[in-house]
Amino acid sequence: MKIGVIGTGYVGLPTGVGFAELGNSIICCDKMIEKVEQLNAGKITLYEEGLEELFNKNINKNIVFTTSLEKCVKESDIIIIAVGTPPHPITKEADMKYIFAAAEEIASSLTEYKLIAIKSTVPVGTGDQVEAIIKEKTNVSFDLISLPEFLREGFAVRDFFHPDRVICGTNNEKCKEVIRELYKPISDNILFTNRRSSELIKYASNAFLSIKIHYINEIANLCEEVGADISEVANGIGMDKRIGDKFLVAGPGYGGSCFPKDTNAIAYIARENKIDLSLVEAAIKGNNNRVKDMAQKIIKKIKNVKDPTLAVLGLAFKGGTDDCRQSPAIDIIQEVIHCFENFNKKINIICYDPKAMPQAKTLIGDKVKFADDMYSVAENADVLTILTEWSDFKELDLSKLKMKQKNIVDLRNILDGKKAKEKGFDYTCIGKII
Ligand code: UGA
Repeated sequence: MKIGVIGTGYVGLPTGVGFAELGNSIICCDKMIEKVEQLNAGKITLYEEGLEELFNKNINKNIVFTTSLEKCVKESDIIIIAVGTPPHPITKEADMKYIFAAAEEIASSLTEYKLIAIKSTVPVGTGDQVEAIIKEKTNVSFDLISLPEFLREGFAVRDFFHPDRVICGTNNEKCKEVIRELYKPISDNILFTNRRSSELIKYASNAFLSIKIHYINEIANLCEEVGADISEVANGIGMDKRIGDKFLVAGPGYGGSCFPKDTNAIAYIARENKIDLSLVEAAIKGNNNRVKDMAQKIIKKIKNVKDPTLAVLGLAFKGGTDDCRQSPAIDIIQEVIHCFENFNKKINIICYDPKAMPQAKTLIGDKVKFADDMYSVAENADVLTILTEWSDFKELDLSKLKMKQKNIVDLRNILDGKKAKEKGFDYTCIGKII
């Protein structure tokens, strides 16, 4: 099939490359000229496990990139909208300017029938709005469906080829047939719903997972007070199939470009509709507060040290990605800096992340230093904190650390705390006292 993908971010690029790998002909469009030039020159623009190989295999064969949305529309039968819907800075509702701009441009480029699919995460009713925008500009026929994305960053390639389910919002039989055909090589587990249900399924799924994480984080707080161990508790809870063992890993709070944005967006939709989504509101509040609590775990260790040095392992919002958007790691670092400023004290912070340092530099590059590897980062540090669960960090050989003080604050619970203690470290983690 000929598919046009609008947007080449963490959703658009894996989707385009994935469909290309399945033998479709893909044309991806992005407004950023340098990005398109880089992609057409065969250089991938984001890190995602396994994506680069598939990209290299398909570039300039099954997939090309353009800045012309018109070309993208004209050369495709299916158009997938995968542009961002960032939160509004004040109301936190999803900002729809990129979606509506894409709709306007698609309308001006339509010369024959197209199937248009919205893959971006959008408020309920967006399909109706986009349909209206296009209809106002053109008489050319088209169908508009909702096709939400459920890829996880870091696992996008795996999730693309092995989805739990495909959700498609349309009542149109012709569209259903096209989507069945498109997904045939990877899934026959397609749930067709009406367009609004499909739009809400995406928000409700992300909000549910956020609540689950918030819940296990609160249980971890309780574990610390009552002498229980969060790993054992989460294991025990997760063995109940009704609850499930996924998304029960306590940590520094959920981050990334999806959960914080989507919980706020669904809460906004509920308030607008005078519906009480108190669980979502509690997760948002609890997750925001968690940054301060996590920062305090670190500060406690160095508050009384003169000119302390904090070593940080991990900057991405989770392992397996270079993405630092809404990363708890970045927020915790900023909070530590803020607290030391309030104490009128200096703190030196030095960070290492295997993939996320270029992105982190644009966010906190003026406030912290960066190291070349996970051992040099800890040299002469008063405390070492782990903020992202990279698998490399699990292999950390503690005997190679040349720290000034042997303090570890492991906010991802990835080290063996007992071994760390045996080696003379003061070891703090989440949801258990070792
Ligand atoms: C999430 C959803 O999992 C995807 O299904 C969805 O497609 C995507 O949002 C999206 O809306 O596009 P993603 O943001 O890539 O995917 O990352 P997750 O793996 O879901 O993790 C989100 C955050 O929760 C991370 O900060 C992670 O560290 C945290 N988390 C996750 C926990 O603290 N504990 C867990 O047990 C799981």
